[in-house]
Amino acid sequence: MRRPVRIAVTGAAGAISYSLLFKIAAGEMMGKDQPVILQLIELPHAMESLRGVAMELEDCAYPLLHTITLHDNVEDGFKSAHYALLVGARPRGPGMERSDLLEVNAEIFARQGRALNDFANRDVKVLVTGNPANTNALIASRNAPNLSPSQFTCLTRLDHNRAKGILASHSGATARDINGIIIWGNHSPTQYPDLHQATILGEPALSQIDMDWYRDVFIPQVQQRGGAIIDARGLSSAASAAQAIVNQMHDWVLGTDPGEIVSMGILSDGSYGIEKGIFFSFPVRCNYGRYQIVRGIEINEFSQQRLNDTEQELLDEKAVIEHLLPKETEASHLNLSICLRSGVTLYADGTGPEQTSKFMTTNRVM
Ligand SMILES: NC(=O)c1ccc[n+]([C@@H]2O[C@H](COP(=O)([O-])OP(=O)(O)OC[C@H]3O[C@@H](n4cnc5c(N)ncnc54)[C@H](O)[C@@H]3O)[C@@H](O)[C@H]2O)c1
Repeated sequence: MRRPVRIAVTGAAGAISYSLLFKIAAGEMMGKDQPVILQLIELPHAMESLRGVAMELEDCAYPLLHTITLHDNVEDGFKSAHYALLVGARPRGPGMERSDLLEVNAEIFARQGRALNDFANRDVKVLVTGNPANTNALIASRNAPNLSPSQFTCLTRLDHNRAKGILASHSGATARDINGIIIWGNHSPTQYPDLHQATILGEPALSQIDMDWYRDVFIPQVQQRGGAIIDARGLSSAASAAQAIVNQMHDWVLGTDPGEIVSMGILSDGSYGIEKGIFFSFPVRCNYGRYQIVRGIEINEFSQQRLNDTEQELLDEKAVIEHLLPKETEASHLNLSICLRSGVTLYADGTGPEQTSKFMTTNRVM
């Protein structure tokens, strides 16, 4: 059995976590041979509810669940964490403008970025789910001067999975028959679900579906799926968000399948003409615990317009919280270099994985 890894989760008594934590403890995220320590973080008033969740986790007697710790502050909760899942965020209240929402969350994610910088494992991998996810990821990353921006990502895998599921239902295929879906941009209704590279059973998807359906039904349906679920269920998507978190972390840490493309919100390095310094969803492949943007995809006029729209929205969001971004991390976010730390999990005593660990012996190449 391998040594346990530490996974910190904020918003651990919330709806998403109520699915997520049980999947992690069952080994769906880190693999069936990887024990986990769950460091669960909540706001002080939700600690009693969190205690209930912890009791349920204990009652499942998961063989891979090594320890559960409960925290009412991120400084304790992030201590030595190898992975940090930032799920908790302030929801939009009645009469709250979008700019107010950005600002209150900016304070929360600035503190979380600083706490990760000061207390987490040097190799920590961070996935931001709490909305507005892209801009929250930027704030956290900009507040962590000693970590690489490439250690931060935001969740757009839910949009990716939604696009795949909807295309599968429409075409009569199954999700496993579909590859090459790309979500570009913001986790918001301006996102662009792009099927130009997509295949169904190895054949181009766009040659198998009607272009009017793609433009007029599919794109808006994926973009507005979150709202449709709230309308239908009276609650926002939680189980599907948890599944997407598991998928995104799993692929980032353990690698994508050969030839597979997934979508991840990452810091733009200027690829595809997207302005540097914002978190934008790109097509990526992962290996050795690192992601790499898939290059050389042709962008036609139809796609370009949509890329521009979602990029502009992210630039506007950034402008609202610009005054809260520390100047000292501006340069590192405009000149992204590969983080050589990423890919090897370091333990508090400074040792890495054993030579026999999967990270070292994988023979997949990009
Ligand atoms: N990126 C995506 O694809 C995606 C998908 C679905 C939901 N979301 C977002 O994920 C977030 C969580 O969704 P949910 O349904 O679990 O919400 P929820 O309201 O059920 O739970 C959120 C929990 O976070 C806690 N919390 C709030 N601020 C915190 C902080 N600073 N530290 C620690 N805990 C904190 C709250 O007490 C609450 O228990 C929301 O912001 C939602 O909009 C994102």
